[in-house]
Amino acid sequence: MKIINLPLFISLFYLFASVARSQPAGLDITKFGAKPDGDATQGLMGAWKEACAATAPATIVVPAGEFLLNAVKLMGPCKAPITIEISGNFKAPADPAQFKGEDTWVKIQNVEGLTINALQGGGTFDGQGQMAWKQNDCAKTGTCNNLPYNFRLNTVTNGQINGIKSLNSKLYHFGILGCKNLTLNELTIDAPKDSLNTDGMHIGRSNGVHVTNSKIGTGDDCISMGDGAVDVHVEGITCGPGHGISIGSMGRYPNETPNTGIFVKNCTFIDTDNGVRIKSWMNSYQAEASDLHFEDITVTNVLNPVIIDQEYCPYNHCKEKTPSKVKLSNISFKNIKGTARSAEVVKLLCSAGIPCEQVELADIDLTFSGGAAVSQCKNVKPTIVGKQNPVACGAPATPAAE
Ligand SMILES: *[C@@H]1O[C@H](CO)[C@@H](O)[C@H](O)[C@H]1NC(C)=O
Ligand SMILES: *[C@@H]1O[C@H](CO)[C@@H](O)[C@H](O)[C@H]1NC(C)=O
Ligand SMILES: *[C@@H]1O[C@H](CO)[C@@H](O)[C@H](O)[C@H]1NC(C)=O
Repeated sequence: MKIINLPLFISLFYLFASVARSQPAGLDITKFGAKPDGDATQGLMGAWKEACAATAPATIVVPAGEFLLNAVKLMGPCKAPITIEISGNFKAPADPAQFKGEDTWVKIQNVEGLTINALQGGGTFDGQGQMAWKQNDCAKTGTCNNLPYNFRLNTVTNGQINGIKSLNSKLYHFGILGCKNLTLNELTIDAPKDSLNTDGMHIGRSNGVHVTNSKIGTGDDCISMGDGAVDVHVEGITCGPGHGISIGSMGRYPNETPNTGIFVKNCTFIDTDNGVRIKSWMNSYQAEASDLHFEDITVTNVLNPVIIDQEYCPYNHCKEKTPSKVKLSNISFKNIKGTARSAEVVKLLCSAGIPCEQVELADIDLTFSGGAAVSQCKNVKPTIVGKQNPVACGAPATPAAE
């Protein structure tokens, strides 16, 4: 038989209650003016302001509900790390004019120590891009930056984002720039196949970015890496529809910083235009990329499963056809398998000015539904390892052939 020690019980009760009080409570956005099933803009900004000023780690809480959210800027520097727990869902204004020229829906900038967790059933950010896509004239004008991204993370250090769903962005879903040690895990990124320039994620001038276990379907690249992407790990991504995972396009602007240490592993591509692609502009500035490794890739009905394209020139915008001055070295494609919807399943089109160096093809098994698969190679002599279907660079992989 158990006897409750009442005085002890009461003193423990007060002890726990006072501990709970002394912890900074979650900053609930509805306490800062966000209306459940109404507008959350002021509420989120207010909670951010208080969290950012707190000297101890703070947590912002977004309770369940459907919130409207206008363009917000969550700016640092902050005094201590911030966590945002999201049970609710957000919708952006559908009309791009309501962004008044802002380049982003949710911008997070100059923050060190940031965790964002989507909790069960929440964390959806719907950019409502349908109206914006109709206004997008980027292909005609070459100017593509007048619509907002869903998210930009600029100079975020030691960050982690888990479980967010980014839907129907008006332009790119995520821009990652100047970040260090940032992990994006279990994201869902979704926009229709025919939505223009809705790239899943662009990573530039960042160091130590991990994108893992995510599902990305868009009208453009699933993930692209611009200049200065260093030590980037892309793993466990299912991509499609979309244009695949790209490094580049490089060499369009002067003084681009090198891309180095990019690892794309265990990714699946379904009905995409490209699988894994490295591209540099024709008639380019000097630039370089090295240590680029693609491993354990499965493709289904993909147009260009493996492609290095140093003759990149979309919409025929290159006036001269001089060879790319982007130097590519130490590149591997290992264990790439599946089906293609074009015969040229491996295309290594390197620059006639600066041939690719140290390229390895290992265990390639790609088939074309309409006939024999082939590989096409220019200005590259890859090292061939293991199974090669089709024969690498159109030649049997026997050492005697040298
Ligand atoms: C990277 O960021 C995580 C938080 O997401 C942190 O726990 C870890 O210590 C950081 N690593 C380094 C080397 O600073
Ligand atoms: C590969 O990625 C999938 C997600 O697409 C994941 O479920 C699986 O665990 C990963 N496999 C390995 C060996 O990491
Ligand atoms: C090629 O890249 C890998 C991965 O970054 C690296 O370990 C290796 O040293 C590089 N090889 C050369 C010759 O630079």
